[in-house]
Amino acid sequence: MDAQGGDRPIGVFDSGVGGLTVVRALMERLPLENIIYFGDTARVPYGVKSVATIGQFTGQIVDFLLRREVKMLIVACNTMAAVALKTVVQRAGNVPVLDVIEAGARASVAGANGTRIGVIGTPTTINSNAYARRIHALDPDARVYSQACPLFVPLVEEGWLDHPVTRLTAQEYLRPVLAEGIGSLVLGCTHYPLLKPLLRDVVGEKIQLIDSAETTAELAAAHLREMGQAAAGQAPAACRYFVTDVPLRFQTIGERFLGRSLGEIERVDW
Ligand code: DGL
Repeated sequence: MDAQGGDRPIGVFDSGVGGLTVVRALMERLPLENIIYFGDTARVPYGVKSVATIGQFTGQIVDFLLRREVKMLIVACNTMAAVALKTVVQRAGNVPVLDVIEAGARASVAGANGTRIGVIGTPTTINSNAYARRIHALDPDARVYSQACPLFVPLVEEGWLDHPVTRLTAQEYLRPVLAEGIGSLVLGCTHYPLLKPLLRDVVGEKIQLIDSAETTAELAAAHLREMGQAAAGQAPAACRYFVTDVPLRFQTIGERFLGRSLGEIERVDW
């Protein structure tokens, strides 16, 4: 095992704070791993932007993380994974790339709840059809029912995790996919794991909710093991947070996603 290589950080990135749900899962699953998180808080949201713009922003973020010698890149943003994965892989060279869509797709076909799969995400993610393509590559017989839920991101950022407005919105968005008799629902956006308790109420007990943050952490653990690149250091490992802006309420929102205090946040000077 290459100890020095193994102690290099994992680079995790997102359009904003939402990707901290992936960092949270990584910290729980891989407590020895050093992490560098990048959130493009100055330009969030990506989910309503064009493919060309998202590609350009993604390239800048990847270059930033590669300069910091990360040993692995994790695309924590579903929207970037949906439309800019090629850019990430091309720039990454030998550095392995994992992404939340691959993780969510794998978990959905591995689930015991049948092949009728619902997917929810931002408009850009859903319009890209990326989830359906990745699910069909794994299981050509799967039936995928997708629904864009553009209001969920602002509702989560507002902290309305258990609010009547959010509940009504969820009922409205989910009605068409629930009518298809789905067995599982992929939460295809960084923000949606925070809505899990409310979504559980809305969809009922029988439908499996697939949280790609947890599956991504599992995939990362397996990958590092296979490559002989797992960290050998002492817990607790270090996590550095880089953002492009520190908006009002950033700390509160970030800590809600991370489930613990954030510590120092560094503003990127490109
Ligand atoms: N991170 C985005 C995603 O997972 C949600 C926020 C945004 O639209 O930028 O799709």
